[in-house]
Amino acid sequence: TAGELGRDMGWEIYAVGGFVRDILLGRPNSDLDLVVEGDAIAYARRMADLLGGRIKAHVKFKTAVVILADGQRVDVATARLEYYEYPAAMPTVELSSIKMDLYRRDFTINALALRINPGRFGQLVDFFGAEQDMKNKVIRVLHSLSFVEDPTRILRAIRFERRFDFQIGGQTLRLIKNALSLDLFSKLSGTRILHELQLIMVEENPLACLNRMQELGILEAIHPLLKLSGERMQVLMELVKVNNWYKLLYQKPEAEPWKLHLLGLTMGIKRDQIGQITSRLRLTAREERDFILLRDQIGEALMKLMSWREDRSRLSRLCAILRPIPLEGVLFLMARSKKEHIRRNISQYLNRLRDITSDVTGDDLKTLGIRPGPAYTTILARVLDAKIDGRATSREDQLRLVER
Ligand code: CTP
Repeated sequence: TAGELGRDMGWEIYAVGGFVRDILLGRPNSDLDLVVEGDAIAYARRMADLLGGRIKAHVKFKTAVVILADGQRVDVATARLEYYEYPAAMPTVELSSIKMDLYRRDFTINALALRINPGRFGQLVDFFGAEQDMKNKVIRVLHSLSFVEDPTRILRAIRFERRFDFQIGGQTLRLIKNALSLDLFSKLSGTRILHELQLIMVEENPLACLNRMQELGILEAIHPLLKLSGERMQVLMELVKVNNWYKLLYQKPEAEPWKLHLLGLTMGIKRDQIGQITSRLRLTAREERDFILLRDQIGEALMKLMSWREDRSRLSRLCAILRPIPLEGVLFLMARSKKEHIRRNISQYLNRLRDITSDVTGDDLKTLGIRPGPAYTTILARVLDAKIDGRATSREDQLRLVER
């Protein structure tokens, strides 16, 4: 095992971070993080040899990932002994390397280690009162410079708070407010903010996180246009419901959570201002273009849907409106529509209509003596529409349509 290998190499090995936290909280977690009081890369190499896997090493950071044959990954880091970057935070002397390693981390609940060497296997290493914090359900930083060191931890604090239904501790909350008043967020790159937002959007309850962000003024700190108004919240709540419904259909592809939520969060922002948000979040040029297009498509579709009347014979028209729009946009339209019949028919579209194909093929057209060319597309589209609208359900009916 990993512990025996450590003993054989003469090093103490610890399981650390979320892995230990989740064991103590009784929650599933598949990522194993190890810290070696020794040479992590050498250790990882031996582990990969023994278990039949490969490693990716970062020599500069003295870390490695072991990728096992079954695809499972184990992160291995070297407990750092080097001089601490923030001398004011804590004296470096007399600290064991594992303590230093844990001290660099974000919150007490993430700063736990579990010894795994034989003889000590399962011993909990808790320097900072994490067990107590878990009992009291609090998120607490290890030192007062934590958010200065890394402002993304503010978003992490909220994510863990809402995920575990904990509370951010009093002092930690003051440090967050202090960091916000120092405008530390403005120094944070859009890429890192977007990454943290993406992690929030895949949480079980992203809206609780967004609410908390609004409450603490974090959304506005990211960009003044990002506010969680009542109307946006309403639509976001619908959006989550609609997306949960959609996920139950087990259809591919799934919606990208960040796109969905960003649609809700930017609702009502003018087209010429949206670039401010996309550039703050450092979307790639392509993502930005797609996002702006998506919003345009939604706006256009909303207009068209207003005049769409529910009628079996007009379902092909609905399909024509929705087909060009990426899934996130269709889900958004469904969430956004106040009219029940529109929602019902969009759900029909996702469930069934969009998968209908005509029973006539290009080969059939050839057999009928029609010369291959752009006309094929038009004819096949017309046949498909007829099938969707129930005017030509059988293949014979559809072929008859072509002949006319
Ligand atoms: N960490 C940190 N500061 C950050 C990000 C991470 O101190 N800004 C530390 C935390 O101690 C965390 C560890 O690095 O435990 C690994 O982070 P991550 O991969 O995000 O894992 P988890 O804590 O397991 O989070 P999740 O459950 O969301 O995967």
